[in-house]
Amino acid sequence: MSKPMWTGRFTKAIDKAVNDYNSSLPFDCRMYRQDIRGSIAHSQMLAKQGIISEKDAEDIKNGLLSIEADIDSGKLTFDSDAEDIHMFIEAELTNRIGDAGKRLHTGRSRNDQVALDQRLYLVDESSDIIMTLDNLIHILRNIALDHTRTYMPGYTHLQRAQPITYAHYLSAYIEMFRRDKERFEQAVKRANISPLGSGALAGTTYPLDRVMVADSLGMDSVALCSLDGVSDRDFAIEFASAASILMMHLSRMSEEIILYSSQEFKFYELDDSYSTGSSMMPQKKNPDVAELTRGKTGRVYGDLISLLVIMKGLPLTYNKDMQEVQESLFDVIDTIKAVLPPFAGMLRTMTIRKDKMEEAALGGFTNATDLADYLVRKGIPFRSTHEISGKLVHYCIENNTSLEKLSLVEFKQFSELIEDDVYDAISLETCVNKRTLIGGPAPETVLKYLNSIE
Ligand code: ARG
Repeated sequence: MSKPMWTGRFTKAIDKAVNDYNSSLPFDCRMYRQDIRGSIAHSQMLAKQGIISEKDAEDIKNGLLSIEADIDSGKLTFDSDAEDIHMFIEAELTNRIGDAGKRLHTGRSRNDQVALDQRLYLVDESSDIIMTLDNLIHILRNIALDHTRTYMPGYTHLQRAQPITYAHYLSAYIEMFRRDKERFEQAVKRANISPLGSGALAGTTYPLDRVMVADSLGMDSVALCSLDGVSDRDFAIEFASAASILMMHLSRMSEEIILYSSQEFKFYELDDSYSTGSSMMPQKKNPDVAELTRGKTGRVYGDLISLLVIMKGLPLTYNKDMQEVQESLFDVIDTIKAVLPPFAGMLRTMTIRKDKMEEAALGGFTNATDLADYLVRKGIPFRSTHEISGKLVHYCIENNTSLEKLSLVEFKQFSELIEDDVYDAISLETCVNKRTLIGGPAPETVLKYLNSIE
């Protein structure tokens, strides 16, 4: 077993099982690029400040870049008993360049180093996630543009309520995903702050140029309190919160995809390439992508709860518990990255059954409110028209018909004020097209909305 870097005050070697238990290398190795980038920025600054020589800084940089290239190519593997990625890289550097490698850690602690690596990693991964989310919004918008006149029932309590259009329905999810994107962007903004210079907890007496390091790493600013710099993991929790809310939205939509592609609804037909069959029942076509998305939501919530609970009782500043943050954070990132592409592909390829949606919109008395509103326009107070319309619905149910199919004679049994213009007032087109208020389902309103978000 190689010797850890902190053995000066110890008289015994660490127990092998304890070393394995303690080691984060199996999971923090994924941050090697960020660790190297941070170390190069730190060592360049040390040289500029005259803390190490230019020659040492050059050797450190070249050594670190050769390590990065060898990890990239697979020539250098992480099969070591190093305690973490930071020690692994530093030990390898010293192996390669000698004493200069031992000067790299001047004015730095693994406490500010690991906080930096996690922040850089999260910022790097977020740009990919934000792009994929943007792509999902585009796909939904394109589908919506084709369906501003595709009528469907809107539901409350999963009971048919009022007619809307499919474009209007999709707009709801577009709005949710747009807010999700904004939440990720804001989380990145708060993550993109450099803790380097915080040292172990109390900064350092070396004349470090913290702003130079932050600038060269493309970070927006530096942590303003060293104690906070090493112990803040809000950025991870905030990211996991944004991810959890996104998953909640994806899960709700998934639930509807599962329902809408069932034989009972038939609004959707999933593409064969995005569905699976049953090993026993030959007729089955299962919406696995949507179900898995719904299932993975629980997993991301679990990660968020882990992060909150890991951090909740920790005294300032660094505690080893915080190492546990990493796996939950990585799992959130991996899960979101795994979920979004197939989800978007499923939406892009599925068939939308306009006929079935319209059929459903015509049933279920979704125009009963409009009938009540029609009578309000004839001078009857809404509470009374609500009652009349309800009675007409009851009559239709008894006679197995629908409101628009009643004759004028039948209508007049319920109110003398009902005239021939009722048919136009309660047609599906009128019910939808007259709702032109901002946020409403009228085709031109939704089209205006869709154009406004481009
Ligand atoms: N692997 C450690 C972590 O992830 C790095 C920081 C170690 N710091 C310490 N004081 N032991 O938290």
